[in-house]
Amino acid sequence: MLAMNKFRILGIAVVTIAASIVTTSCNDKRSTGWEYAPNMYEKIAFDPDQKNPNFKDGKTAQLPPAGTTPVGFTRFDYPKTTEGYNQASIEVKSILFNTSKNIEDGKALFMTFCSPCHGKTGQGDGTVVAHGFPAPPSYSKGQSSRGGAMKDLTDGKIYHTITYGLNAMGSYASQLSPEERWKVVMYVHHLQTL
Ligand code: HEC
Repeated sequence: MLAMNKFRILGIAVVTIAASIVTTSCNDKRSTGWEYAPNMYEKIAFDPDQKNPNFKDGKTAQLPPAGTTPVGFTRFDYPKTTEGYNQASIEVKSILFNTSKNIEDGKALFMTFCSPCHGKTGQGDGTVVAHGFPAPPSYSKGQSSRGGAMKDLTDGKIYHTITYGLNAMGSYASQLSPEERWKVVMYVHHLQTL
């Protein structure tokens, strides 16, 4: 009886080891092994970077048709030129109401993204400037390098500057959504009066 049990245990052990070798060993090191529900690995949808026979240029990622606006995207059709800046100054107006919530949000964003250079009160004396970075002109007392007093900068000019940057100042288009940019513009208007 005991001998039988020994053989049975030995037998089970051998079968288990053999089975685990069969299921885990694989010559192809890149293989993921057995695929359960292969649709999760080999999906039917094309990845954006995949070749695609359904389009003439063979790519999956297609440009949107000319003249269309993606859902949730805010257009700003003013080029990164002085002409674009001046045109935006005439045509572009803030989309936000002058509420205390918007000003508060604008202030918080300004403190994070702009004050390191422009200073907390917009005088061009931020901490980065203290370390040798060229000082931006004061919003209330300075002159814009594109002409005119900084205190007279319009909605469109400030929005254009945040979107594209200017010389030593980079673009904030990828950090600030259009709505956030307008909140910052609102706060810059406040700093222009100091
Ligand atoms: C890395 C430092 C730096 C940061 C951060 C920065 N700026 Fe500037 N900014 C500058 C400098 C330098 C100038 C002057 C550029 C010139 O005239 O050559 C400038 C100029 C400007 C002007 C004047 C544009 C004009 O037409 O003359 C505005 C408005 C402005 N910045 C707004 C902002 C706002 C809003 C933010 C935050 C979203 C910001 N800046 C963040 C450095 C910075």
